[in-house]
Amino acid sequence: MEIDVFTLFPEAFTWFESQRHVRNALADGHALRYVNYRDHTPLSGGQVDDTPFGGGAGMVLRVDVVEAALRARYDVDPLRLTGERRVLALTPGGRVLDDALVDELASESALTLLCGRYEGFDERILEHFTTDRLSIGRYVLAGGELAAMVVCDAILRKQPGALGHADSALEESFSRALDGAPEYPHYTRPAEYRGWIVPEVLLSGHHANIRDWRLQQARRRA
Ligand code: 6GU
Repeated sequence: MEIDVFTLFPEAFTWFESQRHVRNALADGHALRYVNYRDHTPLSGGQVDDTPFGGGAGMVLRVDVVEAALRARYDVDPLRLTGERRVLALTPGGRVLDDALVDELASESALTLLCGRYEGFDERILEHFTTDRLSIGRYVLAGGELAAMVVCDAILRKQPGALGHADSALEESFSRALDGAPEYPHYTRPAEYRGWIVPEVLLSGHHANIRDWRLQQARRRA
C-alpha cells in the first residue's frame, strides 16, 4: 500500500522509518511518502497558517495551502481526490482509532494522512478535502505527526511480512481471533523468579490445553 503524509515536519518521521517492521514493509514494496505543506504554499515567506476569524488563541492551517499541496502531489482538484482514495485528517475530535478501523485502513491500497498543527485545520479542509477525521484518543497533542506515526505503525505492522513471525499480528490484543479481548499473558524463562511461578499449563506442552487457557485468560481481561 501507499501512504502519503502531509506535514510541516517530515523530518519527524526519520526515527519512525528506521524501525524494523517499517523497513520490512517498505522493502516489501509498500511506500511511505511525505509532502511538506510549506514547499507548496502559494503565500509569501512560506506562510501556511493564519489567525482564526472571530479571534482566539493559536493558528489555523489554511485551506488554500492544503489545496496547493494536494494538487502538487496528485495533479487533480482535491475535491475529486476524495472519490479516488481515503484522505484522513488527523484531529483530536475525529473517530477514535481501534483495531477494527486499523484493519479497515490496512486493506486500502492508498491513503493520504493530513497532519494539522497549532489549533488545527480550517473547517473547509475537513469538509471538502477529506473523507475521514481520525483521532488516536481523547486528549490533545500539539500536532498530528505523532498520531500519523501511530496510524502508520498500526497499519504497516498488519501487512504480511512486516513482523518477523507471521502469526504475531493475528492473535493479539483486540483482534477478532481473541473476540476483541486484550491479549492473554505471556511468560518466558526463568520459570520461577523470586517465588513467582509460571502457570503450570504453559510448561505442559499440551497445545489444546494451552490454547484453552489463553482464550480463557483473554476473556477474563475483557
Ligand atoms: Cl489525530 N491530533 C492531535 N493534534 N491531537 C490528538 C490526535 C490527533 N488524536 C488524539 N489527540
